[in-house]
Amino acid sequence: MSITATPTRSAKALYFALLACKPAEQARNAAASYLDEQLKTAANSPCDLPDDPLQLATWSSQQAAQVGHRYQAYLESRQNGTARRYFHNKAHAQYFLKGVAPTKLVDGAWLYGLLAHWNDARFNTLVRTYLEELGEGLAEQNHVVLYRQLLANHVGEDWQALDDPYFVQGAIQLALAEHAEHYLPEVIGFNLGYEQMPLHLLITTYELAELGIDPRYFSLHITVDNAHNGHARRAVQAVYDAWPHLGDDDTFYRRIRNGYCLNQLGASTLSVIDEFDPRQEVIKLLQEKGALGHLMHVNRCRFAERTVNQWLANPADIPTFLAVLEQRGWIKRHQDPRQSHFWQLIEGERAPMFGVFNAHERQLIHDWIAGDWVSPASSTRPADTRCLPDRPSSSQPPLSGSDVDEEARLLHQQLAGLTDRQAYMNRLIPLLSPRCQDSAAGLLATRLFCQQFNRGSAHA
Ligand SMILES: [Fe+2]
Repeated sequence: MSITATPTRSAKALYFALLACKPAEQARNAAASYLDEQLKTAANSPCDLPDDPLQLATWSSQQAAQVGHRYQAYLESRQNGTARRYFHNKAHAQYFLKGVAPTKLVDGAWLYGLLAHWNDARFNTLVRTYLEELGEGLAEQNHVVLYRQLLANHVGEDWQALDDPYFVQGAIQLALAEHAEHYLPEVIGFNLGYEQMPLHLLITTYELAELGIDPRYFSLHITVDNAHNGHARRAVQAVYDAWPHLGDDDTFYRRIRNGYCLNQLGASTLSVIDEFDPRQEVIKLLQEKGALGHLMHVNRCRFAERTVNQWLANPADIPTFLAVLEQRGWIKRHQDPRQSHFWQLIEGERAPMFGVFNAHERQLIHDWIAGDWVSPASSTRPADTRCLPDRPSSSQPPLSGSDVDEEARLLHQQLAGLTDRQAYMNRLIPLLSPRCQDSAAGLLATRLFCQQFNRGSAHA
């Protein structure tokens, strides 16, 4: 349903507007218009849900079994020496982590609007799923905190410069968070789609670990989304729990279906993986560096009768500049990058260009130069998805520092004055929102919310 006729914004603008401290009314209206538009597209999308909602549990189990069989076939092929299916190298994996960042950083957001109904048994499973997305207030289990750590270790903040399609899923999730009251079947349908375990989650987890990237964010979803008793099973149960006793069954299920199909819109895991073009990424990187870099070189070297500054001054010249560097032997593709003079200029503390490129950017340049070359030191051992090779260094601080203590003290003080349980939960709910649930105050509020929620009144 349309709440207003406010013109719809771009997904990216809407995403950041809804993540603002307190979204303006205009942003909330735009979110409703945006959802209406996306739902029109979803309604015309192919859908693999069974026609009979009573078949949903069977359908979910069958999907999980199929995924399991395909994953076993993948593992067997890898054990027989087949190359990684998704990530050619670490730079490719980092590109993927960046491309899906806008979605992962609002993980679970579509369920936020149901917190207001924490005491309604119909939504018990969905509220519980949301609280688990938040790690029940424990930073080490909070999905957004875990993803932020992955970004800090492998991507940085570059994801904010991504184009609109990468923000479509995040914008949808945040819009559902704002308007759960008006899009309840769509929220439940979206959840049904999001929580089924896809094959790409299993393969991604395996290959990230193989490349030495901590896969915990992904492996956590394998365990919690299982079809037997995890989020996938609960997502089916949530459809039945919320099924209306009055009203039109067909309309309810059609809206569930449309919400389910929202999952297919915008950039996806597979589209991000497929589109990676390392040469294009290196060109983009040098174009960005060239904005200032064309004023920084001493013009000692000339390539094709032009100085480095002249090459860098015009972004359109960068592809030709790279080709000239290859022709001159400064870049030797498909060989050990250490054989390339260009790499020697940027890698190492004594390198003339030390510090110009950060670790993620050097990884990209390294892997592009290396191309098909395989380091003899690289291992083809099966991935151990339990290994945590790069445990994060930037985890959320516990509420122990003086400034953070002040927030905690204030929250406890405000809660102490509330004798009514609903008022107590109402005070906490804004702190569990997608925009602040991974902050220290948000984590504290989540723990307090869980204590009350787990007391069992929702089961009454
Ligand atoms: Fe999650």
